[in-house]
Amino acid sequence: MKIAIVLHSQSGHTAQFAGIIASKFTENGHEADTRLLRTSGHVSPGKKNFELRDAPEIDQYDAALFGGPVWAFTASPVIMKYLSGLKNFKGKKAACFVTMGSPFLWMGGNQAVKAMNNKLESCGAEVLMGEIVPYHFKANKAKMTEAANRFYQAITR
Ligand SMILES: Cc1cc2nc3c(=O)[nH]c(=O)nc-3n(C[C@H](O)[C@H](O)[C@H](O)COP(=O)(O)O)c2cc1C
Repeated sequence: MKIAIVLHSQSGHTAQFAGIIASKFTENGHEADTRLLRTSGHVSPGKKNFELRDAPEIDQYDAALFGGPVWAFTASPVIMKYLSGLKNFKGKKAACFVTMGSPFLWMGGNQAVKAMNNKLESCGAEVLMGEIVPYHFKANKAKMTEAANRFYQAITR
């Protein structure tokens, strides 16, 4: 299978999570292309007037995963802008993954997944369970690996 992993990551936590997910697929003989979103200019929570430098096309992929940090109790505006521009992923499996600073998922993690899932549903995707991993002062590699395994099972089923 060909999997797209599109993400925003400012300080590298979500990028680390994406790397663990990608490895799970590639180690098992699948193709996983990871694309880090970049913006023109600085983006802060709630900001809307910025541009994505590029918005990867994912039509040719069998499934896609979308990641980003929790910012101000919801998903980062960067991954939300990308998902807002995604018009069609009809019938294909998709899921989102987020990292957050707080260990409490109600401090934005649940809200971020909900907001991202709403966008995926509007594209007609078959939305799989999202994954939230707190990055509370240090990476929780065990949780990232468990989440990657769940994505792998759900997508290759
Ligand atoms: C502007 C900003 C706002 C944030 N808001 C929250 C928040 O509301 N809740 C939370 O748990 N963490 C919050 N964080 C922490 C990040 O979600 C956390 O450090 C995340 O792992 C960063 O991911 P990244 O390294 O991929 O950018 C915030 C961080 C930044 C920079």
